[in-house]
Amino acid sequence: MLSETKEKAEMTAQIIAQQKNTVILTGAGMSTESGIPDFRSESGWWRKIDPLSIATAEAVEENYSLFHEFYSDRLSTLSECRPHEGHYCLASWEKSGLVTLVATQNVDGFHQKAGSVNVEELHGSIHRFRCHNCGEIADKEEFMRQTTCRECEGKLRPSVVLFGEMLPETAWQRSMELVEKAELVLVIGSSLQVYPVSQLPAITRGKTALINRDETSADTDFDLVMKGSAKEILQYMDNYLKNAEV
Ligand code: APR
Repeated sequence: MLSETKEKAEMTAQIIAQQKNTVILTGAGMSTESGIPDFRSESGWWRKIDPLSIATAEAVEENYSLFHEFYSDRLSTLSECRPHEGHYCLASWEKSGLVTLVATQNVDGFHQKAGSVNVEELHGSIHRFRCHNCGEIADKEEFMRQTTCRECEGKLRPSVVLFGEMLPETAWQRSMELVEKAELVLVIGSSLQVYPVSQLPAITRGKTALINRDETSADTDFDLVMKGSAKEILQYMDNYLKNAEV
């Protein structure tokens, strides 16, 4: 890790420890070191598939076999993956009263699996299923078997937010509220290209920090930018917090 990155990681850790009011905002880059592809970097999903052909309500209605194949593939990949040390660092910072919320764009449930309790899933969850037509709750088996809704024969889908759909209202409101009041918003592994989540860091009264492997168009808006691996930088910060009397 570059010495400049270490310095910024230490500065970020100091704010986290001193202010005890940090909101974490994560994107797909938080889970790539668990083996889950992200969307827009070199090996991302959207480099191979046009998102508008598959992650939309139209795809559910008009191209269900492709929609179903994509999401059942992601579910199968996910079943072999686990949260990494970076997820556990964030959960331990919450336990120590340093982190007030993890707002995530990820649908993999890894923050909760690693022990984070205060989590808002802004793009829903791939582990919950419902009828696209009537909203009746369904389970993973019914979705994987491509059965139809037991109430109305409609198509089943994961409860993820598809392009053009509204974000879950309470998750969005609560995230905005805590981000506004935060002393630090730490964004981890997001290209910040998807509205409205991309707007969240700008509404805080506090400082903003970004951990990301690639450059983003929002880099210049951040107080602290750390280029590199989410897992490595989070572990470095965690060690710093444990050893330094901050
Ligand atoms: N460490 C740090 N950053 C990483 C790592 C890593 N190990 N791996 C990838 N990244 C960075 C990439 O450089 C990239 O800029 O994470 C970012 C991921 O960006 P996207 O793939 O655009 O993912 P995200 O920002 O979460 O996308 C938002 O778009 O398609 C929708 O619903 C989908 O929630 C997703 C939303």
